[in-house]
Amino acid sequence: MQERLNVVILAAGQGKRMNSAIPKVLHTLGDLSLLERVVQTTQKLNPNAIFVVCGHARDTVQKQLSHLPVQWVVQEQQLGTGHAVLQALPYLQNDSKTLILFADVPLISVAILKNLIQATPKNGVSLLVSDFPDPSGLGRILRDDNGIFKRIVEEKDANSEELRIHEIFTGMMCLPTGQMQTWLKRLGNENAQGEYYLTEIPIFALADGCAVTTVRLAHFEEAQGINDKQQLARQERYFQKIQAEALLIKGLILRDPARFDLRGELQLGQDVKIDINVILEGKIELGDRVQIGAHTVIRNCKIGHDVVIKENCVLEGSVIGDHCSIGPFARLRPETVLSAEVGVGNFVEIKKSTVGLGSKINHLSYIGDAHIGQEVNIGAGTITCNYDGVNKHKTIIGDHAFIGSDTQLVAPVMIGEWATIAAGATITKDAPPHQLTLCRKQQVVIENWERPQKEEEKK
Ligand code: UD1
Ligand code: CA
Repeated sequence: MQERLNVVILAAGQGKRMNSAIPKVLHTLGDLSLLERVVQTTQKLNPNAIFVVCGHARDTVQKQLSHLPVQWVVQEQQLGTGHAVLQALPYLQNDSKTLILFADVPLISVAILKNLIQATPKNGVSLLVSDFPDPSGLGRILRDDNGIFKRIVEEKDANSEELRIHEIFTGMMCLPTGQMQTWLKRLGNENAQGEYYLTEIPIFALADGCAVTTVRLAHFEEAQGINDKQQLARQERYFQKIQAEALLIKGLILRDPARFDLRGELQLGQDVKIDINVILEGKIELGDRVQIGAHTVIRNCKIGHDVVIKENCVLEGSVIGDHCSIGPFARLRPETVLSAEVGVGNFVEIKKSTVGLGSKINHLSYIGDAHIGQEVNIGAGTITCNYDGVNKHKTIIGDHAFIGSDTQLVAPVMIGEWATIAAGATITKDAPPHQLTLCRKQQVVIENWERPQKEEEKK
């Protein structure tokens, strides 16, 4: 039978070095907070229970992450990592293994955690260790001449020789819960920081004749902790790099993986091309052969096949049909639905509107709360006046209508099929189908009119 697994995630610390009013574990990597990322990874291990030890700003943390399937444990005073695990002890299942994780080490992979759990000796401890190019600030692994693990020494307690060691403790360990209980109760705080260190546990294990194994993590970046904003930024780039590499393997054509950000989930068609500085957020679906130009932001959109999105667009909450052409400099706001073959050009904003097959809105327009039929042509500078200062109203435009440039459509208003609206109109009443509607004064010419002259030119 598979042994039960309990996970304890430590998240009570303030994170002083972040220099922030936001609790450390609520800072985000990609689209998720550090803590949520660790919880998501943990869930893939199918544990029997997940406990999160919170303390600093715990109300904010619990409120913001109340949707997580975890049990919250409070550590009133942050007296150290060992003390934090001690708070969870009463809730743990006796016949389980306990896996201890840190909320500030967010990019640890499921695969390595599985190795760590599996490597746990029957009555002993398994520790996740790694070789860090820069080990500063971290607990070092001390070994004897035969390479057998002796103990972990915290940086603040280490001598100059120990400080030269690059093998570090990642903070993650797995051990039988019953055993952990006896060892946790022996923790003292006689060290440089006056804290109850979790890292004392292996010392007690060895003293009791129990085995301590170390599992080595090859990709040290996975275990990089986040203690300040430099580390946060570095981990964001590492996270983006792994995502980009996975997408390249799936067949995405990315002009520069270092200038691409995915903060959410991407469902990808074949032969999609993405130029530099594109940001994708939330849930994104891209059909086959979609092309996205440089400097574009797309948030929660579903985009069909063969769509071309040119440079500098901002698209949000929209559904875009096959063969559409968008931008450059276009903005689609939530609840916009474009059928196939729609053209949306530069400086066009569309909000909560549907646009039918083959219709074109190519220049400088605002379309809000509108329903536009098929094969409609919206001229440059067309504005739907959808807001009267209190309520929003609808504009409905029939198939094959032609709206001349610089037209204001004062909603609620309907334009019939095949209607033509002459340029410069302010349409306040419904325009009939198949007719030309214009609201325009006659053009007049003043003959023999002379331009005014400057005084000195008159002489
Ligand atoms: C810890 C380890 C160190 C290891 C490093 C890896 C100890 C004593 N040291 O050091 O060996 O190399 O992590 O990243 O364990 N926390 C609480 N309550 C507390 C103190 C901390 O919940 O009282 C939480 C923090 O919120 C954080 C995690 O535990 O998520 C680690 O604490 P932190 O103070 O960052 O430990 P490090 O100094 O990084
Ligand atoms: Ca840390």
